Amino acid sequence: PRKIIIDTDPGQDDAVAILLALAAPELDLLGITAVAGNVPLELTQTNARKICELAGRTDVPVFAGCDRPLAHSLVTAEHVHGKTGLDGPELPEPTMPLQDQHAVDFLIETLRREPPKSVTLCPIGPLTNIATAFQRAPDIVDRVQEIVLMGGAYFEVGNITPAAEFNIYVDPEAAEIVFRSGVPLVVMPLDVTHKALTTPAHIKGFREMGTAVGDAVAAWTDFFERFDKEKYGSQGAPLHDPCTIAYLLEPDLFSGRHINVEIETASALTRGMTVADWWRVTDRAPNALFIGDVEADRFFALLTNRIARL
Ligand code: BDR
Ligand code: CA
Repeated sequence: PRKIIIDTDPGQDDAVAILLALAAPELDLLGITAVAGNVPLELTQTNARKICELAGRTDVPVFAGCDRPLAHSLVTAEHVHGKTGLDGPELPEPTMPLQDQHAVDFLIETLRREPPKSVTLCPIGPLTNIATAFQRAPDIVDRVQEIVLMGGAYFEVGNITPAAEFNIYVDPEAAEIVFRSGVPLVVMPLDVTHKALTTPAHIKGFREMGTAVGDAVAAWTDFFERFDKEKYGSQGAPLHDPCTIAYLLEPDLFSGRHINVEIETASALTRGMTVADWWRVTDRAPNALFIGDVEADRFFALLTNRIARL
């Protein structure tokens, strides 16, 4: 199985991504590193453990990482995810322990221990932990196999400011480090995640699985959907973060372009914007596979099929 580390700020859609990874024998989830994002770190690390316990996977180590972005104060998204970050179902307080090791040290140690280019990073929150690890231990950068991340937007522009997507906006300085690292990047921007919309039929499908996990996924997507419907008039909840894991399982569900993507860090108006050279109008070298489309029906078939196994 392919070795991965999920770096996350759960978040209902983060939770679905983690569950999809746990349901996939093709993936070996070495650990979950929590970061501050949708809600503060104390909640994201707790939520990560709640999700593992729900899936009966207390063997997956959970680490707490950075509690604030590199250069600015934390911006959170309770207006989307609720007060706990994981509003929807009632889940018990986790009893599995949080690891003592800091998430950044875990990232560094793991990348140094495992054979070069055998570990893939899946960041689905702000990029603070990953950038901090790269800054502190530049030798690990070349050892990363690939980074498959959720963040950014091009045609769909922003969801936290008119110009920026949340994950990149929260820590643009960290995003810049990652986008300039030279590691092969696959980027799932809003352009694609806004096509992975849950419908009432999907939610019903999760509920009818008759499992604790199915019930939780239904309740999460239901909660999350309310916001997007009211705010954007969209058909359902966009499953942003699960796109990264789905890509690892079935890359041909997705299509995109190898292009140059730079991060705006200076302008107050467009901070956190992913300046994506989609039409290749510059000669800047491509640094990312920027995804633009997904076969949504096949994506949901994969997701429901796998979630039903848990
Ligand atoms: C991203 O921001 C978070 O709120 C979601 O979990 C997702 O990672 C979407 O912009
Ligand atoms: Ca997230």
